[in-house]
This record gives sequence, structure tokens and C-alpha cells, in this order.
Amino acid sequence: MSARELLRWLAPPALLAAAAACGPGQEPPGRPVQTAVPFSEGQLRRIMQMSPLPPLPTDTTNRYADDPLAARFGQALFFDERLSADGAVSCATCHDPDRGFTDGKQLALGQEVGNRHTPTLWNVAHHRWLTWDGRADSLWMQALDPIEDPREMGTTRGKLARVIADDPGLLAAYSAVFGPIKSAALRDRPDDVRPPRGREAASGPTAPAAVRAWDALSDDQRSAIDEVFVHAGKAMAAYQRLLVRGDAPFDRFVEGLREDDAEKVESLSPQAQRGLAMFIGKANCVLCHSGPNFTDGEFHNNALPTLHGGEARDPGRFDGAKVVAASPFNAGGPHSDDPGGPAALRVRQLRQSSEAWGEFRTPSLRNLANRAPFMHQGQFGSLEGVIEFYSELEGATGRGHHQEQVLVALRLTTAEKADLRVFLGALEGAQADLGLLSPPSHSALGR
Ligand code: HEC
Ligand code: HEC
Repeated sequence: MSARELLRWLAPPALLAAAAACGPGQEPPGRPVQTAVPFSEGQLRRIMQMSPLPPLPTDTTNRYADDPLAARFGQALFFDERLSADGAVSCATCHDPDRGFTDGKQLALGQEVGNRHTPTLWNVAHHRWLTWDGRADSLWMQALDPIEDPREMGTTRGKLARVIADDPGLLAAYSAVFGPIKSAALRDRPDDVRPPRGREAASGPTAPAAVRAWDALSDDQRSAIDEVFVHAGKAMAAYQRLLVRGDAPFDRFVEGLREDDAEKVESLSPQAQRGLAMFIGKANCVLCHSGPNFTDGEFHNNALPTLHGGEARDPGRFDGAKVVAASPFNAGGPHSDDPGGPAALRVRQLRQSSEAWGEFRTPSLRNLANRAPFMHQGQFGSLEGVIEFYSELEGATGRGHHQEQVLVALRLTTAEKADLRVFLGALEGAQADLGLLSPPSHSALGR
């Protein structure tokens, strides 16, 4: 089989159909295009699996997922600092569009310092499980958590309903998508009301005031407030689904291989091509950073040195699996628009296992620029630092017998590290729609 035939054979059906539509007469003549690095058949097969970024997976648990009006409303909420205890923190405070939707800090800072690093939101809708420990199974479920997390925004779902109801622009935008807010949500204007979090008491003198106020509400008030809360989450999810950046130099390179287009193949410099060969070869990064979003979507324990030294204490996926399975906001719960669907099945099948202790979700490696530091505690200040760790495993924390031992010190040469670094730079996607990077204008909201 010639390299050209092989590529044809490896191409996804959609691309084959597109190629066939060009007609046989328009096929590029001559020899298959040359790469700077002689990739083997197996390597080419791997490379084909890494591009292009496919269309977003549908989210049947959110019937507003692809509704543009919902997204616009969600965008307004995303940038709204009134959704926080001190009126100074919005989602965008930590997920700053100018910093690749991160904050440049090691640990997130909202009302207090948190215990994890803020991840990017680029291509976030491609993830099956959200957050480092996967404690949410949909973007809308995830969006609810920071609002009431005392370290992040620290407000309540009751206050959220009030902020929307009291702002004519927000209320009009909300109603256009979801219909009116039920009067029970605003009856007696309950403000700071939320259910208990974590180990908080659900009632009685030791329960926080907002929790006692929640306990005092009638069932229909609670469910009307939850409805607004969930709608807000689904709208913010619709907005975040638009934060997609593919079409990186690497994608053009793969396109060039498929189309026999030498110019496109040159989108990846010889050094970046050597880095790619490392990535899928000797360094075997592709073991976990696989597929077109450069993640297997799974959880691993990289035994990273901890931010402040000492043994790792973050249970990671071990706790995350428990939290998502127990949440009323998961894909199988009463607020899901597809409680019998595949996502619901996935969360019902989750089992907590001790092997998951200390595991974190493999991040995507697309769009890494401008979003240092890296890893779940922001342990590394640069990509060079990350690559150095994979090369030497210096400072790796001891792993218990039940944890996987996948990483071996790669002992890369200086040139190999530089090649890898340059390849990672070629995963930077095309510029996103600028209109997504700031709050929507008042007129866009219908005010
Ligand atoms: C105080 C900073 C802070 C604020 C405010 C904040 N986040 Fe986050 N966000 C984080 C951190 C930290 C994580 C990782 C949490 C973890 O793994 O425990 C995260 C995780 C996420 C994720 C998961 C990303 C992934 O790759 O899985 C999404 C989505 C997200 N946030 C959206 C939001 C939205 C929407 C809001 C506003 C409602 C918001 N965040 C407010 C810091 C923040
Ligand atoms: C065993 C699976 C595995 C392998 C192999 C692997 N990674 Fe990772 N990678 C992960 C996980 C899991 C994380 C997150 C770890 C954490 O924060 O605890 C990560 C994090 C990263 C990050 C930080 C991204 C961010 O958003 O913070 C970069 C960059 C990275 N890896 C690059 C590489 C490179 C380059 C290689 C090959 C030299 C590689 N990885 C090999 C699983 C892996």
C-alpha cells in the first residue's frame, strides 16, 4: 500500500466523501507529499486520529445547549459580578478571556483561596467529565457549583434569582428563553437561601443562616428557585459551548497529509514535526493526551510534587466520582432533560474505587499559550517546567501500591525537550469570535 493509499484508508468517512466530491480529475498529481520526519504507517495512523477537532458532542441533558439566545443570556451571567457574595467576583474573574480563560494564579482566588488551579474553558464542551476530579457530568451542572462555593463566588441560588428578577435586561433575556420566573421563586423575596453544602448541618442553630432560611421555605418555593438556578446553569453552558478553538497549525499539517498538499504540510516546521514524533513515539505523551482534543478524558495520577511540599492530600477522582453520583443536578437527576439517556447511564454506572485516589483528569493540550501555570495546583510555571518534570520526574511524590505507575523518567535530551515544546506551540487554535470575550452589549440582551 502506498503512503497515499494508506492516508486515504485512514481518513474518516466524512472526509472521504468530501474528497470524492472533488471528482477524480481534481486529485493532486505526483508523489505523496513529503514530511520532514519519516513517519511510519502506525505513526501516521495515530496522527490522523488527532485531527481535526470534531463537532461538539451534543448534550441531550440540556435542551438549551445550542440555543443562541440562551448562550447570550449565559454570557451576560458569566461576566456578572453581582453573582457573588462581595459583588466583586464573576466567572470571568477566574476564567479571564485574556488569559485563555484562566487566572494566571497557582490556586484560584475568589472569596478565599481555593485548593486547585483554574483550568481553561477553551474547548471545554468536548470534555465528558468536568473539573480536575470530574465531579460534574455536564457543563450546566458544573456552572452551579462556583456560585455557592464559599471560596469562589459564595452567594446563593436565592440571590441569583433575585439578581435576575430585579434587572429588567436580564429578566427580559431570561423570559425570552425560559418563560417567566415562577412567582414562588420570589415570594416574600427570600434572598440568601441555599441548601447545605458538604458537612454543613441542614437545620438547627449550627446550620448557616442561608441554610436555615432554605429549610424554612415550602417545597414549591424551593423548586421554583431551583428552576431558575438550573436555567442559569444551562444558559452558561450554552455560552461555554461556543468557546471552541481548533484549526491549529497542527490541524493544517494533518489536512495537508490527507490532501497531499505540501504547503499545508509545511504548517508544521521540521522541528515541530520532530516534536510530534517524540509526542507519539519516545515520550509517548499520546498514551493519555490522545484523540483530537489531546486528552483521553480519563483520570491519572502523575505523582506531581505538591505545591507546598509533602505528600499529596487531594483525593481527586476518588471524591469527584462520589460527588457527581450523589448530586441532584447530575445527568440522571430530576433537572436533566434526558434522565434516561447515555449520560445518565454513565453517571449511574460510576463506582468509587480506591485506585482513583489522587487521580486528575488529563487536560487538553490545545491552546496552552498564555495560560501558565499548569497542573491541578499550578505546580509548574512554564511548559518547559512541565516537560522537565516528564523528563526527570524530579520531586515526584511517592505512590501507594494501588496507584498506577505509568510515568517513567524519559531522560530527554535538550534538543528533544525543545522539539516537544515547539510542537505544543503548534496546537494553538485560530482566533475565536471576539464578541465572546466580553459581556454582551445591553442592546444584544434586548435592554
Ligand atoms: C474563584 C475562581 C473561580 C470562579 C469565580 C469560577 N471558577 Fe470555574 N473553576 C475554577 C477552578 C479552581 C476550577 C477547577 C475546580 C476543581 O477541579 O476542583 C474550575 C473549573 C471550572 C470548569 C471545569 C473546566 C474543566 O476543564 O473541566 C468550568 C466549566 C468552569 N469552572 C466554569 C465556571 C463558571 C461558569 C463560573 C461562574 C458561574 C466559574 N467557573 C467560576 C475557578 C473558578
Ligand atoms: C499517564 C498519562 C499521561 C501521560 C503519559 C502524559 N500526561 Fe500530561 N497530563 C496528564 C494528567 C493526568 C495531567 C494533569 C495532572 C495533574 O494536574 O495532576 C497532565 C497535565 C499535562 C500538562 C498541563 C496542562 C494544563 O492544562 O495544566 C501538560 C502541558 C502536559 N500534561 C503535557 C504532557 C506531555 C508533553 C507529555 C509527554 C512528555 C505528557 N503530558 C504525558 C496525563 C498524562
